Amino acid sequence: MAADTGATIANALDLTDHRLRQVGVDIEYRRPHPPIGVAANPVHLEQVLINLIANAADAMEDAPLRVLSIGVSSDGSTACISISDTGTGIAEADRATLFDPFFTTKPAGKGLGLGLAISYGLVRDSGGALTVRSSPGKGSTFTITLPARTAGVAKPSARVSA
Ligand SMILES: Nc1ncnc2c1ncn2[C@@H]1O[C@H](COP(=O)(O)OP(=O)(O)OP(=O)(O)O)[C@@H](O)[C@H]1O
Ligand SMILES: [Mg+2]
Repeated sequence: MAADTGATIANALDLTDHRLRQVGVDIEYRRPHPPIGVAANPVHLEQVLINLIANAADAMEDAPLRVLSIGVSSDGSTACISISDTGTGIAEADRATLFDPFFTTKPAGKGLGLGLAISYGLVRDSGGALTVRSSPGKGSTFTITLPARTAGVAKPSARVSA
């Protein structure tokens, strides 16, 4: 199954728009042209993106600089989507358990600690990987790596209008 990264990211941004406005987040994102497709269930990829964007918003809640940057790239065989924030960052000690179910630093009622565990499983099940880099106090970058696919976006009419 193929997902168009541009359409999927647009949906995820739409569904998290309220939260991003609430926190006052600036978004740096340019939709990829030509489109970049990945071998993944689009609904699953959207869930992963929503989880990562919601975490980024939470991490920036008290930050003076609140920028969410989304990057998409492909070398033809592998595609990467990176989600970067300028939030709290992740302590070195927490990185080993970050993707474990029920690991959370959020107050009771705010987080269950399931978002990253579920996201990790969904990306892995598509033959990809979810990784993180972080500078405590500066921010974090989560990167989704997936097999690239010719996006299933070519409609019959696209050939004549292209
Ligand atoms: N972008 C980020 N910046 C800083 N810390 C993060 C970030 N993303 C995740 N974390 C840390 O990882 C923990 C686990 O994240 P995860 O998404 O699995 O659970 P949660 O957000 O706490 O709860 P849930 O997603 O179930 O509502 C978070 O509580 C937080 O401490
Ligand atoms: Mg979460």
